[in-house]
Amino acid sequence: QMTTVEMEQRVVALKEKFGNRLLIPGHHYQKDEVIQFADITGDSLQLAEQSALNTEAEYIVFCGVHFMAETADMLTSERQTVILPDMRAGCSMADMADMMQTERAWSELQSLFGDTLLPLTYVNSTAEIKAFVGRNGGATVTSSNAKQVVDWALKQKQRILFLPDQHLGRNTAYDLGIGLEQMAVWDPHENRLLTEQDPETIKVILWKGHCSVHEKFTVENVMRQRELDREVRIIVHPECSHEVVQLADCAGSTKFIIETIRKSAPGSKWAVGTEMNLVQRIIREHPEQHIVSLNPDMCPCLTMNRIDLPHLLWSLEQIEQGSPVGIVKVPSHIQREAVLALDKMLHIV
Ligand code: 13P
Ligand code: SF4
Repeated sequence: QMTTVEMEQRVVALKEKFGNRLLIPGHHYQKDEVIQFADITGDSLQLAEQSALNTEAEYIVFCGVHFMAETADMLTSERQTVILPDMRAGCSMADMADMMQTERAWSELQSLFGDTLLPLTYVNSTAEIKAFVGRNGGATVTSSNAKQVVDWALKQKQRILFLPDQHLGRNTAYDLGIGLEQMAVWDPHENRLLTEQDPETIKVILWKGHCSVHEKFTVENVMRQRELDREVRIIVHPECSHEVVQLADCAGSTKFIIETIRKSAPGSKWAVGTEMNLVQRIIREHPEQHIVSLNPDMCPCLTMNRIDLPHLLWSLEQIEQGSPVGIVKVPSHIQREAVLALDKMLHIV
């Protein structure tokens, strides 16, 4: 049994040994014990772009969740191997839209709307769903560029189907001036639109998915923080519900949250509605400000947190021994179509 210090030393030694043959991207929600070894850190968009730019690393040990590793695999070359240090690091939101449900929804929606519909998917989705979107002319979006991509999409077609996060879809469309009465939720379990209104009036169809972390930030949390301190500003991720985002002072991607707080004056007071590891890191990096989690219970992304120091070390050791495990390889027929959707996004933004 190795101590933490021994494990850290071993990771340092292996990183030195591999040099540029190894790249470790780390998402902002990763634990500090992992993020300290990341060569690049960022939100989903930054990590996708940075991975695409890297051509020399033979091994990309992706500290994030499965859909991010898939994206990195699709945007890097054939020679590069993407590894997820724990295959159980999935995303509950991505799992809320599977291919069968999506094909079924699409055929139903085609009969309602014909050719007036363009699909978009949040990058928090499987490569298969991205491929579905790609072959139907749509694009992926991230929380950093959702507004630009949805705006683009609504110039291409009369209406959009937004997968799989209803909240990011609703919050983004609302920001673009689309009223809630022009949006309807698609329930993949009931296989129908949850609305009584005339389908003709609907511009945005929201897949009934959500993030189990961000749904834990509630209207009551916002009220409570404001009761405790009238000066506190509330900043949340757009995966939070529409009600919470509307009540908040500002909302935006992980990168937006980090930068907004970084730029604010000493003594500023913030209650932050996003994943626990990131909130704790922001608190530590800004002792000159008063920062708390919007939900005092703290909300970890349990699947992200499956990647820890022992798993990181283990996957590096497997590479060293010449038998890498946890390889994420998207089949080429899926990759071909999914890349269409990813490229579209990267060109729009
Ligand atoms: P971003 O990194 O794009 O802000 O997304 C947050 C998230 O939930 C990642 O899974
Ligand atoms: Fe998925 Fe939410 Fe975790 Fe992001 S924070 S990986 S959306 S469950």
